[in-house]
Amino acid sequence: VNLTQDDLKKIAAYKAVEHVKSGMVVGLGTGSTAKHAVDRIAHLLQQGKLKDIVGIPTSTKTHEQAVSLGIPLSNLDSHPVVDLAIDGADEVDPELNLVKGRGGSLLREKMIESASKKFIVIVDESKLVNYVGGSRLAMPVEVIPFCWNHSLTRLVSLFAYAGCVGELRKYAENGEAFVTDNGNYIIDLYFEKDIGDLKETSDAILRLPGIVEHGMFIGLATSVIVAGVDGVTVKSK
Ligand code: A5P
Repeated sequence: VNLTQDDLKKIAAYKAVEHVKSGMVVGLGTGSTAKHAVDRIAHLLQQGKLKDIVGIPTSTKTHEQAVSLGIPLSNLDSHPVVDLAIDGADEVDPELNLVKGRGGSLLREKMIESASKKFIVIVDESKLVNYVGGSRLAMPVEVIPFCWNHSLTRLVSLFAYAGCVGELRKYAENGEAFVTDNGNYIIDLYFEKDIGDLKETSDAILRLPGIVEHGMFIGLATSVIVAGVDGVTVKSK
């Protein structure tokens, strides 16, 4: 059989949902991989194989999907402790550090996933990298709209040593600034070289006024389920 990338995403998602048990508070991720997990949870609820699940959606998009499928929902104010979160990622490094947010939902994802006892990441094998930034794709940073260009300049100069360039994320359709669920903008950073120590990098970004959050998820994943053409592997901390 020829498995498509979407088949692999579904395989990883279904495998993760095996860890969802009745009565759990479950963080519902965002993106094309997490979407399969939400579908699967809804299906098991409809079949009566799962009961009393409370979903905590990580974006308005996932909120809408879950509502349309009839999954009971809540939020961190009412359910501050999440039993298990399941979400995709854009990059996974060998220590299970992640880059997330190419869909723009990094802030709510990080709030919910850092409040989860377990956080299972689901990816197809194309997401594996040797180091964060290694895919040469964007590392997203959520910024407040006020003087975003100033924030962009400060971010880029912070990472001059890594050959950093950055750009404001825009909607392809109309060229207007992409707006997150929280009313903020996204600056996508690209690095030519390894950015080095992730904790230091994270601290440096978060110290800049006007920066809300970045897409590096350092030490948050408890396990990563990787679906590849040769099978499924599980990496755990
Ligand atoms: C959403 O902002 C992201 O963090 C997604 O979780 C991530 O981009 C993975 O998405 P895909 O599963 O669609 O690749």
